[in-house]
Amino acid sequence: MLEIRNLTKRFRGAPVVDDVSFAVRPGEITGYLGPNGSGKSTTVKILTGLLHATSGHVLYQGQDIFHDTIAFRQRLGYVPEEPNLYGYLTGLEYLQLAGGLRGLPSNMVTRRANQLLDLLYLHEARWLAIGNYSKGMKQRVLIAAALLHDPDVLIFDEAQSGLDITNSLLFRHLLRELAARGKVVLYIACTGVGRKDLRPHRGHRPRPHRSRRLRGAPADITATAEPGGSLHAACASGRFGVESPGDNFRPHSAMTH
Ligand SMILES: Nc1ncnc2c1ncn2[C@@H]1O[C@H](COP(=O)(O)OP(=O)(O)OP(=O)(O)O)[C@@H](O)[C@H]1O
Ligand SMILES: [Mg+2]
Repeated sequence: MLEIRNLTKRFRGAPVVDDVSFAVRPGEITGYLGPNGSGKSTTVKILTGLLHATSGHVLYQGQDIFHDTIAFRQRLGYVPEEPNLYGYLTGLEYLQLAGGLRGLPSNMVTRRANQLLDLLYLHEARWLAIGNYSKGMKQRVLIAAALLHDPDVLIFDEAQSGLDITNSLLFRHLLRELAARGKVVLYIACTGVGRKDLRPHRGHRPRPHRSRRLRGAPADITATAEPGGSLHAACASGRFGVESPGDNFRPHSAMTH
């Protein structure tokens, strides 16, 4: 289990993440939701050990991830928000590089990379330089790289952005399959922030967010589901309906006011 306890991050004194607590259990898909600038990626950077929190803790299986960051990262697959790819490498070469940096045996990496490229509809593009890939293709290479070492913890920071309907369906299927295999899955998604982006939910009138900080999870911002089941937010008020990544993913955001 991945536990986030009273996480706070301040930049120049201003809180971006404010006392957030929630747990991500194996076999569940947990959604972490919020509008632009609400601190989702900052939280993720802390969860992946890239950034230190101002206060609070992140525990994996009861141990602080900073106690042995290398061991934690070996069990972590992470799709960052910003693609950080080498355009002159082919998709296959990039995955081979990623596997090599993880210290995986090269024959195993090549076999698994080819499987993932097939799975993610990139088999024909495996010999093409990534610089020539479309946005959605780059996104799928990042997903493949995150899955290469069969990690126990998976964090996807807006991994569905740029994917077309076919690949979105594939990605949703993949999430469910990972959860069914007992993985810890955290899915970061953006909620609309403007009035026109907000859809009324259960008869409530949509209202703009007054505060853009993430506060007080899990009631405000997490959503969990059993593998294969419907995903509903464990939110307090369910004031807003939000952009949803799929039929089985119906989170509601209740940002703080
Ligand atoms: N290193 C930094 N120094 C100062 N401010 C930062 C830093 N990193 C992030 N911020 C600020 O923290 C806030 C939250 O940023 P973050 O990237 O976590 O938001 P987000 O919820 O992921 O947004 P988006 O939906 O646009 O991806 C923003 O106002 C951003 O400018
Ligand atoms: Mg972000």
